[in-house]
Amino acid sequence: MLAGKRIILGVTGGIAAYKAVYLLRDFQKAGAEVRVTMTPSATRFVGSETFAALSRSEVAVEVFNDEKPGKNWTKHIHWGEWADLFVIAPCTANTLSKIVHGQSDNMLTSTLLAARCPVLICPTMDGEMYESPAVSKNLTTVQEMGYHLLEPDEGYLASGLEAVGRLPEPETILKKSAEIIKTHRIQGPLTGKKVIVTAGPTREFIDPVRFISNPSSGKMGVAMADAARALGADVMLLHGPVSVPIPDRLPTREFTSAEDLFELMKSYTDADVVIMAAAVADYKPISRSDQKIKKDRTDESSSIELTRTPDILANLGKNKKKHQTFIGFAMETENLIENAKSKLEKKNLDWICANSLNTRGSGFAGDTNTIHLLGKDDHKEFSGKKSEIAFEILDEIFGDH
Ligand code: C5P
Repeated sequence: MLAGKRIILGVTGGIAAYKAVYLLRDFQKAGAEVRVTMTPSATRFVGSETFAALSRSEVAVEVFNDEKPGKNWTKHIHWGEWADLFVIAPCTANTLSKIVHGQSDNMLTSTLLAARCPVLICPTMDGEMYESPAVSKNLTTVQEMGYHLLEPDEGYLASGLEAVGRLPEPETILKKSAEIIKTHRIQGPLTGKKVIVTAGPTREFIDPVRFISNPSSGKMGVAMADAARALGADVMLLHGPVSVPIPDRLPTREFTSAEDLFELMKSYTDADVVIMAAAVADYKPISRSDQKIKKDRTDESSSIELTRTPDILANLGKNKKKHQTFIGFAMETENLIENAKSKLEKKNLDWICANSLNTRGSGFAGDTNTIHLLGKDDHKEFSGKKSEIAFEILDEIFGDH
């Protein structure tokens, strides 16, 4: 359950901070990718270098970068978006109180406020502190706020007393973490659905240095993937060589050629929804030269013989199952609606998003688009920022109207 998951481990300044080192190792052994943020006082118990070396990643303590002022000071936001789970272990009474009040005075508390993922708090402190009225009240409040809580164990404490307050064993924390990830759902019309989105251009190589491609930036596809995720889907973004940044929160796999994408798609033939926004080449060179083709080897004119690439959507469409919804894209330069409608039928799609290269503010690399969403009997037009119309389109298709 934890394999491939992204976990932020927040370590606060209690003696049990040393146990977080083992916890980090165990998360990694379970296949998770872990980033560590520590409060300044936690670094007095365990050096941040220990966590940095083990996590093979920077350990964030402060929001501001004193060495390079102004550099990367929004890291807490990006980390917050990146994570599938935020585990605070150990969590001191002090950090617990800050969480209850929404304070953001260090990297850990700021990242927590930015996080969209579920949060597991493992309070750890001396028994008297744990049972104090303020801590008791804060423990109730954090649960009401929607955070998950793992009660501390009873046993021998650093104070020499025996009481409740020990950090549970890593095994218990891992088990609880897996449970949380398993049951966590962003609620939306796509909750529980596996959605595959393709984005960007393909490259069909002629020789090692030249290829046939198109100007697709991947922006519309990435926007569709992000919108699907925000509507609750379990998304996988398959992308070609895109020229836009892909948010960390999206799981991705890469392709280069149409053939690569065709092969990749074989792993996802059971997806509930396929959104094919990639600009896939229809033809590729019949052969690829192993060496760079030299000018002197050719005459004044030259030609490249091309052969068809597999039509991925049409192939999927042939074997469409009842639970599946296929959404294609059509970029046209003439007869937009007729051409798109014919693709909708030929490829056995449920929907097609038609956009014309000739419409102002529409097309490949820009921020905006005009899309005609065509279904078997529907036709709706959406205009605006790609990131916004992606939501509108998915809401139109899957929303409760
Ligand atoms: O026929 P045309 O290429 O215009 O159809 C566009 C739609 O078909 C897009 O959704 C595109 O991703 C998909 N396509 C495909 N395989 C191809 C070519 C296009 O799946 N070889």
